[in-house]
Amino acid sequence: QPTLLASYQPYPYRIGDVALTFRLDPRTTRVLSRIAFAPNPDRPGRHDLRLDGGGLTLIRAAIEGADIDVTADDTGLTIPAALLPDGPFTFEAEVEIAPETNTALEGLYMSGGMYCTQCEAEGFRRITFYPDRPDVMAPFTVRIESDMPVLLSNGNPGASGAGWAEWTDPWKKPAYLFALVAGDLVAVRDRFTTRSGREVALAIWVRKGDEGRCDYAMDSLKRSMSWDEEVYGREYDLDVFNIVAVDDFNMGAMENKGLNIFNSKLVLASPETATDADFERIESVIAHEYFHNWTGNRITCRDWFQLCLKEGLTVFRDQQFTSDMRSAAVKRIDDVLQLRARQFREDTGPLAHPVRPDSYVEINNFYTATVYEKGAEVIGMLKRLVGDEGYASALALYFDRHDGDAATIEDWLKVFEDATGRDLSQFKRWYTDAGTPRLHVSEAWSDGTYTLTFTQKTAPTPGQDQKPPRVIPIAVGLLNPNGDEVVPTTVLEMTETSQSFRFEGLAARPVPSILRGFSAPVMLERKTDQAERAFLLAHDTDPFNKWEAGRALAKDVLTGMIAEGRAPSTRLVEAMGAVLRDETLDPAFRALCLWLPGEDDLAQALADAGRVPDPAAIHAGREALARAIAEANAAALSAAYDALASSAPFSPDAGPAGRRALRLTCLAFLNRIDGGDRAAALFAGADNMTESAGALAALLDAGRGEAAIAAFHDRWQGNRLVIDEWFMLQMLHGNPARAPETARKLAAHPDFDWKNPNRFRALLGGLAANHAGFHDASGAGYRFYADWLLRLDPVNPQTTARMTTAFETWARYDADRQALIRAELERIAGQPGLSRNTGEMVGRILGAG
Ligand code: ARG
Ligand code: ZN
Repeated sequence: QPTLLASYQPYPYRIGDVALTFRLDPRTTRVLSRIAFAPNPDRPGRHDLRLDGGGLTLIRAAIEGADIDVTADDTGLTIPAALLPDGPFTFEAEVEIAPETNTALEGLYMSGGMYCTQCEAEGFRRITFYPDRPDVMAPFTVRIESDMPVLLSNGNPGASGAGWAEWTDPWKKPAYLFALVAGDLVAVRDRFTTRSGREVALAIWVRKGDEGRCDYAMDSLKRSMSWDEEVYGREYDLDVFNIVAVDDFNMGAMENKGLNIFNSKLVLASPETATDADFERIESVIAHEYFHNWTGNRITCRDWFQLCLKEGLTVFRDQQFTSDMRSAAVKRIDDVLQLRARQFREDTGPLAHPVRPDSYVEINNFYTATVYEKGAEVIGMLKRLVGDEGYASALALYFDRHDGDAATIEDWLKVFEDATGRDLSQFKRWYTDAGTPRLHVSEAWSDGTYTLTFTQKTAPTPGQDQKPPRVIPIAVGLLNPNGDEVVPTTVLEMTETSQSFRFEGLAARPVPSILRGFSAPVMLERKTDQAERAFLLAHDTDPFNKWEAGRALAKDVLTGMIAEGRAPSTRLVEAMGAVLRDETLDPAFRALCLWLPGEDDLAQALADAGRVPDPAAIHAGREALARAIAEANAAALSAAYDALASSAPFSPDAGPAGRRALRLTCLAFLNRIDGGDRAAALFAGADNMTESAGALAALLDAGRGEAAIAAFHDRWQGNRLVIDEWFMLQMLHGNPARAPETARKLAAHPDFDWKNPNRFRALLGGLAANHAGFHDASGAGYRFYADWLLRLDPVNPQTTARMTTAFETWARYDADRQALIRAELERIAGQPGLSRNTGEMVGRILGAG
């Protein structure tokens, strides 16, 4: 049943062009297709024509205009070779589908009265019979017939009239990039002129009433288009670029050629309704989807095993973009926080898989942090190893050599080898081997020579016992004991299991700053003391490692408090105060330094240290440290909180957003000692969502959120995205012991529209993210969560399967919790009719797959 990388075969036919006609109707949409096939010379001989298709009612099929008598099976249609002429032929089909009852949100479905599509990875086969695989590419022409006022598809607009419109996409593309939208929509319009002079009409399509919240997305789009021209030399290639916002969407957004479709959360923003984090996310996802036009669309993937070819690269590019638009140091820290929280968690558990997997049951289960975020880290390492110029020439060669191709990771690496002359055969293990390496370091000092010895080790992962050594770029700098840098950042290239690097001619034993900029996605293990961590926090010239030193110090202190009942460390409490007061540091950076490690992160740190994490003790320990920091630094926190208040008009830019982040961080500490008074005042006076939501969170934490919760709901009733935030905040904040009960109460709220993925994720995702609440010893959190997964699975398997990852860390916990979680997972696994999506995930989490 699994699909295997090793079984790849080219499709036996090629497609000249595809013509589709849609007669839209909520219950009985007709899709007519005419497809020109020709034998593929790469697959000599005569072959049956196999087309993918699922949930389609076949009305008619014809070859060369003559009807044929064929019957579809569960997964598609086979036309025996005997019915096919020698050489090229035309296949036609008419099928019927019902977008209104499509709750899976794959293929053609309806959201808020409009028609829309999501075809990646395998949604096109729910629209019509087709070779639904990325290496089959063709130009499409589309005719839409509907009484909806706005009718959109890929490419450039063609003729249109009352009740119909035609679109032509001149660029050949795989079916997963197909899109269609029909609805009563309004456009926010703008223009962009490419550097070679192409005039592009830009439009963001939204429901009436939402047009005032598109400016930031539009501005982000124009900045993305310029940036890709300047930095990668990539220009846009159609006359129009359309973006549509839809409320019901399984993922963030989708890069359909010329017609990106977005979760409305990643388009709509105004200062009153969106937080600074929302603005930043919109900017980066708009960029991400736009950048796919070259890395994904013009050059696509040969098969879904190569998903990281487009996703890893496009994430890397959107990270570069955000670094250029905002602060590179802050962006790097944010990305590493995400990587550790999501990807390391995945890579060290039962769901670990290579950046390029070699087997899957359901491809939608592989749109993971490993493919996306680790896929981006691997490209960052490549760039570090070959240098900026090597990277630029490799990318130029990639676009030149592979434009129009469906390519592989082998193609990608070959481009780097040809452009730089470097042998990447060992480096390739980053793509084929799962698991996060642990990098142990020890040091020696004698006669002015300082030696660092590294040892790498990767634990076995499911299906992979052997872990040969990888190429690890280790960026290192050395500081003098007085705080000056004696050796600036140098990239050491580790290739062996164990390897030493020498630094000679030093006057004094240096303090090392290792893995600067997080130069490789590894877990650095270094025995050191709190004094040295505090020294690096104060003196490191590398902003990432400066932050990392404080982070490691906080983790040491917290794990000592939680596991050994130690007192909060004065050294840490003072170091935090020093960072807070250091006005030479960017406020956003200071906020990140002050932010204590999260509870899930601490659970992992304790598990790594061979302890069994106790979620309630972790919560209490983190609270105790936050209170100690607040008490010792009350005056400085209060002064900063007041000084950071702003009366300037709201701007979502990085500078003001960073000051708000630091101010809200101060509030979170002060909230532990002022009983929520500042939060109450801020909530009453806030004129933007960042502060409103921050104040509401603080009020909930202080146990006095009730009135604010009601007021917030009254104020924002009817605004879906803000109400999502309302659900989420209540799940994340407040006393965790009451989280399962709060979840039950909120699930009964009339606004809990559970078939909407954003709403479902707000409540259930919020519960899972409340570490102590989800892991409540009673098992009530687990049971509630599993109940809802079972309810959602028949409606929307993709979102259900994705959310099973809340259970992926079960092996960390005590025997009682393990038994409770296993019981829930087994209950899900045993559900009759469970989707393939969820079945695969639960099986893997239980260690059965
Ligand atoms: N290609 C999209 C993006 O990363 C994600 C679409 C994933 N969809 C899915 N059903 N798995 O930009
Ligand atoms: Zn993507």
